[in-house]
Amino acid sequence: MIVAVDGPTASGKGTLARAIAAYFGLPYLDTGLLYRAVGRQVQLAGTNPDSAADALAAADFPDALLSDPELRSEAIGGFASRVSIHPQVRAALLERQRAFAQQAGGAVLDGRDIGTVICPDADVKLFVTASLDARADRRFAEMQSQGREITREEIHAQIERRDERDMNRKDAPLKPAPDAFVLDTTALGKDAAIAAAIEAVEQAR
Ligand code: C5P
Repeated sequence: MIVAVDGPTASGKGTLARAIAAYFGLPYLDTGLLYRAVGRQVQLAGTNPDSAADALAAADFPDALLSDPELRSEAIGGFASRVSIHPQVRAALLERQRAFAQQAGGAVLDGRDIGTVICPDADVKLFVTASLDARADRRFAEMQSQGREITREEIHAQIERRDERDMNRKDAPLKPAPDAFVLDTTALGKDAAIAAAIEAVEQAR
């Protein structure tokens, strides 16, 4: 069983994808981390994330970079969103994601284009969303608990910018697949959202 989980930043898709993977005993891949590693590599090299050639060079990153805690920062999220615009970068990361999805027994992948591009034949497609305000609140709480110095206004603006870029790019824009089940988590707490996601997978499989 292949489960595709897509959605905008801070929608809760990562939490839900991990919970689905644990519940059904499937391996899990956070594909955002791959784009984040490319963004981090560009930052470390001091090259230009808006240049397709520079971004593509960074797509050849060492595996060790995937465990760099800096990858989770909003700054690297911004770099990731910029490098992910280039079709060459997306193509360079495609096989790795498909190979993960096609392992025996199935897998859960989360990202922006899993149901539309990476695994268009996935058995289950979930599109997780929440209002911009709810997502900004969640990201702000997360940043505060990590002791990061950032205001809610800054987070709101960053999320808005990232949504705008992810939804309007030409190649693999963020959007629900026509056959995706849309789960809006705005009014749901974590446990209720997990229960709803597992129920949706049970129904769709
Ligand atoms: O999900 P996460 O916030 O970690 O993703 C970081 C960025 O990587 C996103 O804003 C998006 O631009 C890009 N991304 C993508 N396709 C994916 C996963 C992430 O373009 N499948």
